[in-house]
Amino acid sequence: MARILITSALPYINGIKHLGNLVGSQLPADLYARYMRARGHEVMFICATDEHGTPAEIAAAKAGKPVDEYCAEMHAVQTELARGFALSFDHYGRSSSQRNHVLTQHMARKLGEAGLISEITEEQVYSVADGRFLPDRYIEGTCPNCGYERARGDQCENCTKQLEPTDLINPRSAISGSTDLEVRETRHLFLRQSTLRETLDKWIDSQKGWPVLTTSIAKKWLHDGDGLQDRGITRDLDWGVPAQFDGAPWSGMDGKVFYVWFDAPIEYIAATAEWADAQGLDDSAWERWWRTDKGADDVRYVEFMGKDNVPFHTLSFPATLIGSGEPWKLVDYIKSFNYLNYDGGQFSTSQGRGVFMDQALDLLPADYWRWWLLSHAPESSDSEFTWENFQAGVNKDLADVLGNLVSRVTKFCRSKFGEVVPEGGEFGPQEAALIAALTTRIRAYEGHMQAMEVRKSATELRAIWVLGNEYLQEAAPWSVFKTDSAQAAAQIRLALNLIRLYAVLSQPFIPDASARMMAALNCDDWSWPSDVAAALAHMPTGHAFSVPEVLFAKITDEQREDWASRFAGARD
Ligand code: MF3
Ligand code: ZN
Repeated sequence: MARILITSALPYINGIKHLGNLVGSQLPADLYARYMRARGHEVMFICATDEHGTPAEIAAAKAGKPVDEYCAEMHAVQTELARGFALSFDHYGRSSSQRNHVLTQHMARKLGEAGLISEITEEQVYSVADGRFLPDRYIEGTCPNCGYERARGDQCENCTKQLEPTDLINPRSAISGSTDLEVRETRHLFLRQSTLRETLDKWIDSQKGWPVLTTSIAKKWLHDGDGLQDRGITRDLDWGVPAQFDGAPWSGMDGKVFYVWFDAPIEYIAATAEWADAQGLDDSAWERWWRTDKGADDVRYVEFMGKDNVPFHTLSFPATLIGSGEPWKLVDYIKSFNYLNYDGGQFSTSQGRGVFMDQALDLLPADYWRWWLLSHAPESSDSEFTWENFQAGVNKDLADVLGNLVSRVTKFCRSKFGEVVPEGGEFGPQEAALIAALTTRIRAYEGHMQAMEVRKSATELRAIWVLGNEYLQEAAPWSVFKTDSAQAAAQIRLALNLIRLYAVLSQPFIPDASARMMAALNCDDWSWPSDVAAALAHMPTGHAFSVPEVLFAKITDEQREDWASRFAGARD
């Protein structure tokens, strides 16, 4: 038994996530966590809301609420949606927790003691009307390059030119529209990442088998241009972890907070401490996952994230952990994803484009989405959600293949033998061939799941379901029954056991349907089918079951058209 620490990138607090966000980290992380638990490993699966930064402040202001209240409410909303999608976090924390305040400040102090923090005076745009410094992307104006009037202070989205806020013509605050802007001096703490460049380079080289998508992004940031830049880790904001505390080796940071990307990954650790607190356990309970001097050296740590998050997890966060000089557990494997697009364009939170987690659950149960999203995970390239594709995937895989098998077998048994596993007959060559074929495919499925090959795992699972249908088609118990009811009984006995096998194997993908299959079989043994023949003899003759409700309803053409038109524009 191994110990596996799994984190999913923390969703920003401002607003409900869309399906593209979901499939880019939380959902595949859940798949892996569920699989590893099913194989008997000890798993710690951590996620949290990422609550600091300007976007949270602005979303709260828009909602007319104090930012702490807004975050508490949105955290509750996101917790409920995570539950709705059956995301099996051991803890869903908050980056604004006391634990994270303490740990973030602790890390900064250690970095400071190691000489890795410097103070730098910079010039930044201050908005008098808003009473605050404006982050680059909250300054708007006319692009000096193409004349686009809504260019942002970091980039013009029309001509893609990288800009400095001072390049903009007629600059104004994107928050209030005010043009009363001044350039003011402000002091900030910088993490001297550049001094860790060689250490990080060596550490990345020593990682075996990381996906190319992950290492190529990390290497690009390490070596392109001037290489790894020192990074400002404080901001002039009110909401965040205060950058002011006793005994700091620097001063003058009153009224400033740590940058959201500094405190957010530290929350992976702090959330595990929140978990221990919630369980009434002491610090050793979370330290054995995170401190290599307290038992974490035998932990395997896997992170899940979208590709835009990779630089922070391959460079900045490791720089914090290594730079602290303390024995923190570093990531062993980073599973990163490309983007899921929506119907010919991008999912977009700011434009309300696509399907959002709450809307999805209003249309259909979580398993429909889980299955389609995971079986189309954007692994080797971006992938696309279309309503046609979604309808086809659900109807074929879930309704025609899996659902149909469950319903045919249980109903046939009820009508001919009653709602018990029937007696009589022997397994013959057809059954032996099925067991052999299943064994081969299940071993392949295990290999793909172990390797976090999400699409390949889904393809293999689907093929495992198909084997059952092919067997039934060839064995044809409904016609065998007319001449040899004992043989038909043996076939159905096997097929009923096959349903339990499918429940166990499918649980990481479609946990609710699996639970319903198990409940219908009146069974609660989820042990993994290491020996397929034994697993198919699990429920003995005479074991009572009941015919379940339809497992998966087909999506009709009317529904598909209705949804496609309802989700064509922006959400209100
Ligand atoms: N909130 C970030 C995003 O959605 C991810 C943060 S991941 C962590 O892109 F490192 F902060 F944890
Ligand atoms: Zn431009």
